[in-house]
Amino acid sequence: MKKLIVGNWKMNGSLASNAELLGAVLRQLGAGPWGSDVAVCASAPYLAQLQSLLQGSGVAWGAQDVSAHESGAYTGEVSAAMLKDFGCRYAIVGHSERRQYHHEHGELVAAKARRALDMGITPIVCVGETLAEREAGYTEVVVKRQLAAVVHLLGHCSSEIVVAYEPVWAIGTGLTATPEQAQAVHAVLRAQLRVATTHADRNRILYGGSMTPANAAELLRQPDIDGGLIGGASLKAEDFVQIVNASAPVTV
Ligand code: PGA
Repeated sequence: MKKLIVGNWKMNGSLASNAELLGAVLRQLGAGPWGSDVAVCASAPYLAQLQSLLQGSGVAWGAQDVSAHESGAYTGEVSAAMLKDFGCRYAIVGHSERRQYHHEHGELVAAKARRALDMGITPIVCVGETLAEREAGYTEVVVKRQLAAVVHLLGHCSSEIVVAYEPVWAIGTGLTATPEQAQAVHAVLRAQLRVATTHADRNRILYGGSMTPANAAELLRQPDIDGGLIGGASLKAEDFVQIVNASAPVTV
């Protein structure tokens, strides 16, 4: 399975800086196809810009959230159909920053994933434990519960999602899960997907949380780590491209 490297720009960027960043990423990536699939997820106002700059480049783009509603009186929300209009391939759902600051819960995250899938957009479903949960020995329970809400709603369509394991204590902190810690959780998530769908071999499970050029290769070498969801390092073209290069199998 090809690895997938996704940049999560979070609430960063401007028309000028996005153009500069993407120009540098495309230049440094060179002519595709690359060994891995590559995407960036930007704030909604910039999706039109991503569409015009990335169309035909081989780099896909996506949103950082999507509404659980189809359309109508939901001021401020962005629907999956709107994301589709702007060519989004992916939509991140259930990022820990949304769970934490916007009180998103399992059922809502699942409904968002469903909306995305209904429009042919691949949801990147984030799961992850806090430091307190890890220290109390609840890591598996927490991530399994978060994923269960989604697979319960999606059933056999669960094979169409991307999962991102992002330990909350590792996000933006410079603390990275060790490859062994990450692999252990990825194996748990893989087993859970196998129970939910007969096509779990299609699911890519990304690791996210302070992934950098220095630690990417070792993380991405783990058997159940199928790519990365990259925050801080995706804002620097050189770092992002180095992670993409670290994810691609060496061809001789
Ligand atoms: P980080 O963020 O790479 O800056 O830790 C990852 C994420 O939140 O998706």
